Amino acid sequence: MMRKLIFAILQLTAAAAFAGAPDAALIERGRYLATASDCVACHTAHRGAPMAGGLVLSSPVGDIVSTNITPSRQYGIGNYSEQQFSDALRKGIRADGQNLYPAMPYTAYAVMTDDDVHALYAYFMHGVTPVDKASEPTKLPFPMNIRASMKPWNALFLDQQPAVPASAPAPAAAPGRSAEWLRGQYLADGAAHCSTCHTPRGFLMQEKKELYMAGAQVGPWYAPNITSDHAAGIGSWTEAELVQYLRTGRIAGKAQAAGSMAEAISYSFSKLTDTDLKAIAVYIKTLPAVAGDGPSRFEQGKPGNALANLRGKPYADNMKGPHLGAQVYSANCASCHGASGQGTSDGYYPSLFHNSATVSNSNLLATILLGVNRETKDGHVFMPPFGDQPNAVNHLSNDDIAALANYIQVQYATGAPTIKADDVAQIRQGGPQSNLLLLARLGMVAGGLLLAALVIIVLRRRDQQNKE
Ligand code: HEC
Ligand code: HEC
Ligand code: HEC
Repeated sequence: MMRKLIFAILQLTAAAAFAGAPDAALIERGRYLATASDCVACHTAHRGAPMAGGLVLSSPVGDIVSTNITPSRQYGIGNYSEQQFSDALRKGIRADGQNLYPAMPYTAYAVMTDDDVHALYAYFMHGVTPVDKASEPTKLPFPMNIRASMKPWNALFLDQQPAVPASAPAPAAAPGRSAEWLRGQYLADGAAHCSTCHTPRGFLMQEKKELYMAGAQVGPWYAPNITSDHAAGIGSWTEAELVQYLRTGRIAGKAQAAGSMAEAISYSFSKLTDTDLKAIAVYIKTLPAVAGDGPSRFEQGKPGNALANLRGKPYADNMKGPHLGAQVYSANCASCHGASGQGTSDGYYPSLFHNSATVSNSNLLATILLGVNRETKDGHVFMPPFGDQPNAVNHLSNDDIAALANYIQVQYATGAPTIKADDVAQIRQGGPQSNLLLLARLGMVAGGLLLAALVIIVLRRRDQQNKE
């Protein structure tokens, strides 16, 4: 009798435990979606525990600190209900009802289906190790410290309409588009949030819809135009090349990924299935072309060098005057990229001509200062940074790097030297203190006030409605 009772109780608790914990397949699907969404890149501090937050993201209006999203009940999101999790992810509203800043890409995640959010929730509650550690609070200057100012911003710019409603079978939702194309659109716009980096932003930091994926500055790097325009975009790439780039971060004679794209590839894109990468490529290849001026960035420059000018002269003489750029190149770069910028035949050290990075001032300078660091199944790709050795004997000053960059532009890229020491200083400061950023900054102050005004307008309207 007693035995039977104990057995029955055991059975009941087992059943309860089973009902409480979602099945392994769901958690695994959530893990894959979390990888595709690159949650870990922002929610993990340098050398910190995964998803425990604390990474400082600089924005034009100040530093925003990512939060602990492990299932810790005290410091993380352990007490979040699925509805609260869904609201944080797709509406930018956290559990206490306060608005999140759009540094959290909820504007992209907004298109995620209920099913996928359900799987992500299962993963975050049951597949992530809880970390009982608080993350630093975010302190933005007035007026941006008023989180409610995001409400009118969301009203204007947050498009919560999922690209493919969960209820609708994918192909039916957009006649004429294949299921593969729709899957690619869903991933690119949602989880993989390509447009948050590749689409330029307007006065209020909103993505400019008419310039979707037409290229934008992201910190010191420039995320280029990836529309289908043949010269300005990646219209000249095959679908297979785009898949290869997303998986490995390099295509010989065209482009390599450094900076934030290298991070996205290392943590996220390189781990996606071939089917999903192909779907993304199919979709991206159909983006409406946004034209620019000038020839394709993948076809510029040719091998060559001006190192003969250095011969027979003392090093110190060459380190000043007209041959400075060639001297710095010869001393620091030629060992890997070749005396004529040709790289190595296996492509491990890329050629500097026919190279998208040398055509962009930001990406050329950011590469020299910050180097390249990328980890995929194909191995670790590393170029040392030349900007972090302030006390080294071979320290490169802003003038040295400007001369080097101009040498590269003349020899291997556009042919015209356009880089000044100030440009190097700006990239060194971690971001483009360019007019664009300055404008954005002014825009944010004015924008903050405008947003405050909008709140008042909205409130007033409500008041009037209430009176009626
Ligand atoms: C580009 C960076 C970035 C990515 C990618 C990102 N987040 Fe965030 N997230 C943030 C930042 C920054 C905050 C804090 C924003 C604030 O304080 O307003 C945040 C806040 C949150 C919060 C609110 C937590 C709280 O209570 O404060 C949740 C939940 C969250 N993120 C979940 C996720 C999940 C799940 C993913 C992946 C699907 C993800 N985030 C991807 C930057 C990011
Ligand atoms: C976190 C920001 C970020 C995200 C997210 C991102 N990119 Fe990028 N992307 C960049 C940057 C920065 C570069 C330039 C890298 C370089 O040249 O070293 C780049 C480069 C590229 C290039 C090469 C272009 C060229 O001219 O060299 C392609 C193609 C590309 N990205 C496609 C995508 C796609 C597709 C997605 C989404 C699946 C995506 N990117 C998501 C920042 C991002
Ligand atoms: C120790 C070898 C090494 C040295 C020295 C070196 N590089 Fe590199 N460089 C690399 C590697 C490796 C890559 C990345 C290849 C890849 O991404 O697949 C790279 C990539 C680049 C790129 C393309 C980056 C991008 O975002 O697409 C540029 C431009 C570049 N290097 C310029 C330079 C310059 C200028 C110097 C001298 C200051 C230099 N390199 C010194 C190894 C080196």
